[in-house]
Amino acid sequence: MASVIAVFNEKGGVGKTTTLLTLAAGLDLVGQRQNKNWRILVVDADQQVNTTQMLTGRADFGAGKSLTCLYENNLYQADQLAAAIIPSLWSANIDVIPGDRSLQEVPSRQVLLPRGDYRLSDVIKEIAAQYDYVLFDTNPKWDALSVAVFLASQWAVVPVDLRQFAIQGLSYMITTLIQKKREYRHPDFNILGILITRFNDQLVGMRSDIEVLRRHDRLGSLLFSGQIPESIVVDYAQREGLSLFEHAPRSKVALAYARFVGEVLGREANT
Ligand SMILES: Nc1ncnc2c1ncn2[C@@H]1O[C@H](COP(=O)(O)OP(=O)(O)O)[C@@H](O)[C@H]1O
Ligand SMILES: [Mg+2]
Repeated sequence: MASVIAVFNEKGGVGKTTTLLTLAAGLDLVGQRQNKNWRILVVDADQQVNTTQMLTGRADFGAGKSLTCLYENNLYQADQLAAAIIPSLWSANIDVIPGDRSLQEVPSRQVLLPRGDYRLSDVIKEIAAQYDYVLFDTNPKWDALSVAVFLASQWAVVPVDLRQFAIQGLSYMITTLIQKKREYRHPDFNILGILITRFNDQLVGMRSDIEVLRRHDRLGSLLFSGQIPESIVVDYAQREGLSLFEHAPRSKVALAYARFVGEVLGREANT
């Protein structure tokens, strides 16, 4: 049974997509190195389809061949969504369920459908049997589709850019996720960790913010040990449609992400 991990943060531009894609590529590399060849399914639940574009070179799948297909009628089956799975351009071990612009209509449909909120988690449970990891990219706002992804996930990775996030805001977001776990009776859900992204040493206050965070009684232990530096390499890799490990494996940012991937594996195995 796969481990199901989603990136959550209600703000845009904090590195959710970059983190998710790099996690997929990193898990693949570790799996290959250990001769385990982990099978990875990336599900793009963001209507902006950046993940789909990066992994497939396309962003025009339409409702029927994307995650949206799960919300098209009253009945649903795993086969329907399984038919939307396509191979990625990155690796034979990474498959994709594409996102599509039409995902923006899902929240209003989902609330009217029988078991609407649980449709994704029901179906992913079946599909996940074929994979070692299922990774969800998400919208930068909390809506019904985020609820569906949350219910389908075991783990949340929360990327944060400290330029956008005061510690109070971060604390509030983590509290909200924990509350939802109770509200929806989803005991299998846990926060895997908070990842500081786009760290820039030259910005006044960032280093001291991190020190405060590391000492914070509730948030400190959730922080991944290293932060991801801000680097133009991320944009270059993105422009070429390549993972950071493919584009610049020895760059500081790729090395920081490699450490993060190792820590994800450690935390996930220990709990
Ligand atoms: N570590 C980083 N250094 C520099 N730019 C980054 C970094 N991480 C992300 N970016 C850039 O910031 C923008 C937003 O990142 P993205 O991962 O798409 O965030 P989100 O999915 O949260 O909206 C993208 O243009 C991306 O290339
Ligand atoms: Mg994104």
